[in-house]
Amino acid sequence: MRILLVASAFNSLTQRVFVELRDRGHRPAVHLMVGDEPLREAVRQHRPELIVAPMLKAAVPRDVWSAYTCLIVHPGPLGDRGPSALDWAIHEGADRWGVTVLQADEPMDAGDVWAHAECDLPRVGKSDLYRGEIADAALRAVLLAVRRFASGTYVPRPQHGPGWDVPDHTRPYLDQRVRRIDWALDPTATVLRKLRAADSQPGVLDQLFGAEWYLHGGHPESELLGKPGELLATRAGALCRATVDGAVWIPQLRPRRRPGGPATFKLPATLALGDLLPLLPELPPLPSLPTAPRRPAAADQHQEQGSWTDIDYQEAGPVGFLRFSFPGGAMSTEQCRRLLEAYRHALTRPTSVLVLGGGRDFFSNGIHLNVIEAAADPAAESWANISAMDDLVSQLLITTDRLVVSAVGGNAAAGGAMLALAADEIWCREGVVLNPHYRLMGLHGSEYWTYTLPRRVGAAAAERLTRRALPVSSASAQQLGLVDRVIPAAPGEFGREVARFAALLAAGPGLQGRIAAKKLGRERDEAIKPLDAYRTEELALMRHNFFDPDEPYHALRSAFVRKQPVRATPPHLTGVGEPN
Ligand code: COA
Repeated sequence: MRILLVASAFNSLTQRVFVELRDRGHRPAVHLMVGDEPLREAVRQHRPELIVAPMLKAAVPRDVWSAYTCLIVHPGPLGDRGPSALDWAIHEGADRWGVTVLQADEPMDAGDVWAHAECDLPRVGKSDLYRGEIADAALRAVLLAVRRFASGTYVPRPQHGPGWDVPDHTRPYLDQRVRRIDWALDPTATVLRKLRAADSQPGVLDQLFGAEWYLHGGHPESELLGKPGELLATRAGALCRATVDGAVWIPQLRPRRRPGGPATFKLPATLALGDLLPLLPELPPLPSLPTAPRRPAAADQHQEQGSWTDIDYQEAGPVGFLRFSFPGGAMSTEQCRRLLEAYRHALTRPTSVLVLGGGRDFFSNGIHLNVIEAAADPAAESWANISAMDDLVSQLLITTDRLVVSAVGGNAAAGGAMLALAADEIWCREGVVLNPHYRLMGLHGSEYWTYTLPRRVGAAAAERLTRRALPVSSASAQQLGLVDRVIPAAPGEFGREVARFAALLAAGPGLQGRIAAKKLGRERDEAIKPLDAYRTEELALMRHNFFDPDEPYHALRSAFVRKQPVRATPPHLTGVGEPN
């Protein structure tokens, strides 16, 4: 079917709907909503059989929705209405939630229901849920709605009349007055709910050192205590702040934009505070890497107990698990170096399989564009960041004494997708979307991708993937050879499933033979073309991207971190219905 996807941005959910429709033989095209007239023009050009809006902040004009069936994805259960659906659900501590696919109508969210799906709402941040449980439920509902539409016989359910017994649940925009944290009164559970309901946007507006800041992200801390509101410690760039009955970790901050001033953007909290930080009481450094082997976490990483850290190493017999989880999947120079240090630590352990990743949200999205943008010399910081990333990737590539598995539980893009490719096996959660390309950021890319990508998919597919710059589903990635195993699991179950498969891999009879073959393969490849040669060639082009002020990277990066709205659908998304 010719389906036009209309969205405010080609965001994670729109990408997921796009790849899954394409996998099922449909011909989806994408139109980014920049106004009514361009939409009318896109509709005239594409002549869609169906319009689907996976994430649309504006209303579709009446003449479009009255001429074409137009399905709107609402991230709330039956009867829920309003612009802050998921925010309210988290704010109020709901355990179950849902997604409804409605026909566009007036008033908003009141159209006939084509499908809906329910899901759990574990205690994690909003954007993590949006890319996880909510995206899974949305796909179930969208695919069902598309099948129903294709049948030609399905009659959608009106949200009124005798057949409708669902209470109307319309809620307003969740504004900062409701989100505000009262540090003198709110217990940890409430503070976490408020932080998570505002994560990753818009954040919770708060005061620090006499200025207004948005707090982004929130994780529990179960040991540190202090005067409510007091800053207690830093770890991995995050701040630990006391509540009335405990403390929370806040990884990122963003200064409030001054009226008429430039857009502000998030940074690791300690970096954002900069010079203000020495004014704090001395903050105890906390180790982020337990040296003694522990059991792998049974539940997901965002458990309510324990202390938050972004890198964690655990063991179960012959399998090591090096988990990492960075906000937005962005990896700064400092984060890459800490992960490399942790990886080297993991290599000192007597394991035969080392699993990298395994968390719920983003695996990695490459170098940290916000930290680079904030640097005094962004070109030099870009260089430092890519060099640190390459050091990490090269360490993976030269690991020949054990098998390394990338466990990709969440989406991965650009250098972060290539980081995964440096492992021997790539296991991916079903529902993950990969973007193995750099072109949209104006970069040639490094992370040894010129070695690892063609090695996996062949030169022609590598060229196609990087040139077309389109997302790839986990199923397509497996067909292409980009991924070895697709694991059908809920986001919170992925880590457990990975642990199960890793134990089987470590116990398998062929393991020692595979490790020996891997060593020989690396020696053979090194003799054909040394790893250093790939790095030198890639970095020569990246040096140009970074240090030539006329290169598009600088403007693209600035627009990305400041979330500048698009002015038109980018050319790589128009007419993209063909298969990979
Ligand atoms: N550096 C800094 N922040 C990044 C990032 C990066 N490399 N990649 C993603 N993020 C942040 C986004 O700014 C966003 O922040 P928010 O939570 O404040 O909104 C968050 O991570 C999620 O990204 P978003 O773009 O909203 O998600 P998406 O699912 O719509 O798109 C990507 C995912 C990866 C396609 C898109 O984020 C992207 O293109 N990232 C840049 C990749 C890149 O070029 N890396 C550098 C070269 S290695």
